[in-house]
Amino acid sequence: MSDVRILILNGSPRKEGNTAALAEQLTKGAHAGGAEVQILYLHGMDISPCTACEGCHEEGSRGCVIGDEMQKVYDGLREAHSIVFATPVYWFCVTAQIKTVIDRIYAVGVGEGNVLRGKKLGILMPYADADPFVSGAVNALRMFQDISGYLGTKTVGMVYGTAMGAGEIRKNKTLMGQAYKLGEELAL
Ligand SMILES: Cc1cc2nc3c(=O)[nH]c(=O)nc-3n(C[C@H](O)[C@H](O)[C@H](O)COP(=O)(O)O)c2cc1C
Repeated sequence: MSDVRILILNGSPRKEGNTAALAEQLTKGAHAGGAEVQILYLHGMDISPCTACEGCHEEGSRGCVIGDEMQKVYDGLREAHSIVFATPVYWFCVTAQIKTVIDRIYAVGVGEGNVLRGKKLGILMPYADADPFVSGAVNALRMFQDISGYLGTKTVGMVYGTAMGAGEIRKNKTLMGQAYKLGEELAL
């Protein structure tokens, strides 16, 4: 075991879905590389939207003032060397579960208080349409590129592809292999 820690934020509401299957493969690759993996399944966690109160940016602030389960995500973000956003495409972008967490990263991703700067980033993203442009996947991936540029993270890999039914993505050996390899790379 190395001391590398990877945090996977799974934003799909399906526990046995395609996002979960990709996350499982990434985890196998990461474990093979000796890393420790924490998966947070966001659906069902008590995480409210950002209220723009700016309490997180007041002098002497110790982060987000909302005392919900996002605090668990903040701990994970602080401790991890690599962060993986795992989300299906919903309405040409990410799920509400992931977007809510991204908004709340405002409390730990700005200026001096940026706990993500320099960390590695991975993306896992299934979608139904055969075409990544038509599906909206390209739109969502672009959003992550901008987020990564803003936060100063290093995008190591983006694994994305088509699947509709829960778990159907397991049949796609190429994507499964890519997710495994991304896990190995994030473990380095
Ligand atoms: C509410 C909703 C919105 C969706 N929007 C899109 C979309 O805009 N583009 C697309 O290609 N697939 C869309 N899908 C399909 C999912 O992205 C696809 O089934 C994905 O494999 C689900 O991943 P999961 O099993 O991890 O939840 C949508 C599905 C749902 C339930």
